[in-house]
Amino acid sequence: MRVLVTGGAGFIGSAIARRLVDDKHDVVVVDNLSTGSRENVPLAAELVELDVAQAGFVRRLPSGGYDAVCHLAAQSAGVVSAEDPYYDLQANAASTLLLTRWCIERGVRRFLYASSMAAYGDVRELPAHEDASPSVPVSYYGLSKLASEHLLRLASREGLSVTSFRMFSVYGPGQNLGNLKQGMASIYLAYLLRGEPVPVTGSLERFRDFVYIDDAVEAWMAALALGETTSPVYNVGSGSRTTVRELLAALKAALGLRPDHPVQENPGSPSDQFGIWADIRRIAKELQWRPTIPLEVGLRRMVAWAVERATPEGRW
Ligand SMILES: NC(=O)c1ccc[n+]([C@@H]2O[C@H](COP(=O)([O-])OP(=O)(O)OC[C@H]3O[C@@H](n4cnc5c(N)ncnc54)[C@H](O)[C@@H]3O)[C@@H](O)[C@H]2O)c1
Repeated sequence: MRVLVTGGAGFIGSAIARRLVDDKHDVVVVDNLSTGSRENVPLAAELVELDVAQAGFVRRLPSGGYDAVCHLAAQSAGVVSAEDPYYDLQANAASTLLLTRWCIERGVRRFLYASSMAAYGDVRELPAHEDASPSVPVSYYGLSKLASEHLLRLASREGLSVTSFRMFSVYGPGQNLGNLKQGMASIYLAYLLRGEPVPVTGSLERFRDFVYIDDAVEAWMAALALGETTSPVYNVGSGSRTTVRELLAALKAALGLRPDHPVQENPGSPSDQFGIWADIRRIAKELQWRPTIPLEVGLRRMVAWAVERATPEGRW
């Protein structure tokens, strides 16, 4: 297959690109290297530097046929979407519109999309099920992800085979510890590595669903292998909840730090979901996908990876 991976220089996109290259597929990566890096892109993949927030970027995509698009390029931080909602909408929703139109015109059959748990907002019933209604995002980021899902539904009426993954908190080796605006586990780890107090926005009782990077990649591969999925949207999570307090305790333990290593509690943000975790019955049934790496194991791997790469002062 020839696959276009947008955001393929980032954390999840590069892991998907690597997996595709390992499986002998041709991979074209599109990325503007804003939060991703060139070193993340597998050598066998072609990297094209483009900004998906720019109208008409699709005209500059390398020519030739494509079998599938994996669209992960995005402004990936909720906090940035609050600072610059217009940019968020361009990078995260308008890009999806342009890519789906391009697929339909070019006869590209398959489209996989990196949606997010943020599309749910604060759902009343937990764990969150894909059919939970109404989905009312509480951030511009969640809104643009949900808008993209709807754009894909429209495109599917014109024959595009679409699958959106509402990924929960993906973590693991490869996450950008230099980006202190996105990724709960990676942000906390960055501070802990430096031995500094960990700034926490909002209550320590907030909760999330952490899913290991390799497990998340396998969900994408399972859908790609099918050609068409039964449902247009799947949760990708562990199916269990972890509070911020529990996450911090597990990270401190993995680093060998004292349990009372200081945490600095800051006021919460209205654009942050309080707590959410995933109902994963649909993806288990339809894609035969299950998470395989328990949080403690995944965090130990992530910590070992980070310790090896950080400077002696714990800098990134
Ligand atoms: N990490 C998570 O827990 C998580 C959860 C749900 C959804 N997602 C989504 O998955 C995707 C990948 O997330 P990630 O964690 O790997 O983040 P990331 O920031 O590491 O990756 C995003 C990539 O997109 C690139 N990019 C950003 N803006 C761009 C633009 N305008 N044009 C071209 N490239 C651009 C970045 O340089 C980066 O390489 C994103 O769409 C994100 O919203 C991530």
